[in-house]
Amino acid sequence: MLEKRLLTKRFDKYDGLNIKTYQTLEGYEALKKAFNMSKEDIIKEVKMSRLTGRGGANFPTHIKMTSMLNETGEKFVVCNADEGEPGNFKDRYLMENDPYQLIEGMTISAYAIDAHKGYIYIRGEYNEAINRLQKAIERAYMNKTLGKHILDTDFSFDLEIRRGAGAYVCGEEFALIESIEGHAGRTRVKPPFPTQEGIFKHPTLINNVETFSTLCEIVLNGGKAYSQIGSNYASGTKLISLSGNVKHKGLFEVPYGTTIMDVITECGGGTNGDIPIQMVQIGGACGPIIPPRLLHMDIDNEAFEIFDAKMGAGAIIVIDENYDLFEIVLKNMQFFLHESCGKCAPCREGHFQMVKILERFVDYKATKKDYQSLKTLAEVIHDTTLCGLGQTSTTSVISTMTYFDEVYQKRIEQSKDVK
Ligand SMILES: Cc1cc2nc3c(=O)[nH]c(=O)nc-3n(C[C@H](O)[C@H](O)[C@H](O)COP(=O)(O)O)c2cc1C
Ligand code: SF4
Repeated sequence: MLEKRLLTKRFDKYDGLNIKTYQTLEGYEALKKAFNMSKEDIIKEVKMSRLTGRGGANFPTHIKMTSMLNETGEKFVVCNADEGEPGNFKDRYLMENDPYQLIEGMTISAYAIDAHKGYIYIRGEYNEAINRLQKAIERAYMNKTLGKHILDTDFSFDLEIRRGAGAYVCGEEFALIESIEGHAGRTRVKPPFPTQEGIFKHPTLINNVETFSTLCEIVLNGGKAYSQIGSNYASGTKLISLSGNVKHKGLFEVPYGTTIMDVITECGGGTNGDIPIQMVQIGGACGPIIPPRLLHMDIDNEAFEIFDAKMGAGAIIVIDENYDLFEIVLKNMQFFLHESCGKCAPCREGHFQMVKILERFVDYKATKKDYQSLKTLAEVIHDTTLCGLGQTSTTSVISTMTYFDEVYQKRIEQSKDVK
C-alpha cells in the first residue's frame, strides 16, 4: 500500500465537527503533551522531525519558530489557507475533513512561540471549508480548547478567520499580510521578514495548513519517529492533489521518496482509456512540465531544482497525448497575466506579450523570432520580478522549451505551411 495516512487518518472516522469524537481519536492529545513541555523542547522536536513548509517553499519550520520565540512583544500566528495554485486542493480537504487538527496545530505553534492571537487567511471561494472551520472554532471555544485558559492552563489563544477575495498573489506571505491589514494585496521588499515585521509590524509566524496540521503528529509521536518516515532528502508524508487524466483523481497522502509514476499508477490507477501520458505538470501552474521519462523522480527529488522549482504544494496534473502542449502552456500564462498585481513591469507587460506569442503557437502562426522572444521574456520575468509569482510563473515555458523543444520546432515548421 503506497499511502501512509498521518494527516488524513481521521478523514473517514468522524464527521469533522464533533469535537468529542475528535478527542476520542487522539484529538488534543498533542496539545496536552505540548503543555507539559518547554517551548524550546517543542521546537527541538520540530527540528528533529526535519519538517519543512508545505506551502511550496520548503523552508525549515523550526527556523521560523526559533526566530519567533526570540522576538518579544505581541506576536501573531497566521495560517496560509489561500490555496490559489491551480491543481491544488489538499488544504481544502484538510480544513473540511479535520478542521480541529489545524486548530490544534496552530495552538501548539502559538504556545511554542508565545503568541496569543491567530488568523486563518482562507481562499474566499472555499465556502464549505469556511463554514466548517467557523463552526469548529466556535465549538473549540466552548470546549475550552481556544480562548482563555485553554485546557485549564494559563495559556490563552484567540483565533479568527479572514476571507481572501480571490487574488492568487495574496497567498504570497507579504501580500497576505497586507490583505489582513486591509490594504491591497501587494508584496513588500524583504527583509525584514514576517518573523521580524509581519502583521501591523509585529513578528508573525506564517505557515501553510498542511504544515500546522503536521505539528500534531510530530508532538504526539516525536520528531525522531516523524523524521524516519520519507527519504533522506525530505521527511514525513506529502499530500498530493492528483488530477488530469487519471482513473482516480483525488487527494493521496504518501511518504516522501515515492516516485511520481507510482502516485499516478498506484494511487491514480493510470490514465483513462490507457491513453499514453504526454507530460505531467508538477506543483501547479507555476511548476515544471516534465516528460514521461522523468516520472521516475521522487516527489522530493532534488532534480526539480534545475527548474528553480520544487515539488511545490503537491499537485500532479497528468496530461495525455490528446492535448496540445501550447494550449496547456497558454492557459498557464493567461492565468498569471490575470493574477499579476501589476507592480513590476516585466510581470505586468511580459505575461501579456507571452500570451500573444503563445496564441500564435496555438494558431500555427509562430515564427523563429516568436520562439526567441518567448524564451527571452520567460527568463527576464523570472530574473527581474519582485515576488515569487513572477519568479516561478514562466517555469512551464522554460521546462517545455527544455524537454519538448522538438514540439516547438515542429510547430514553427508547420506554421510556415499555414497561410
Ligand atoms: C504567488 C505566491 C502564492 C502563494 N500561495 C500560497 C498559498 O496559497 N498557500 C501557502 O501556504 N503558501 C503560498 N505561498 C508561499 C507563501 O509565501 C509562504 O512561503 C508559505 O505560506 C509559508 O508557509 P510554509 O513554510 O508552511 O510553507 C505562495 C507564494 C507565492 C509567491
Ligand atoms: S512579480 Fe508580479 S505579482 Fe509579484 S509583485 Fe511583481 S507584478 Fe506583482
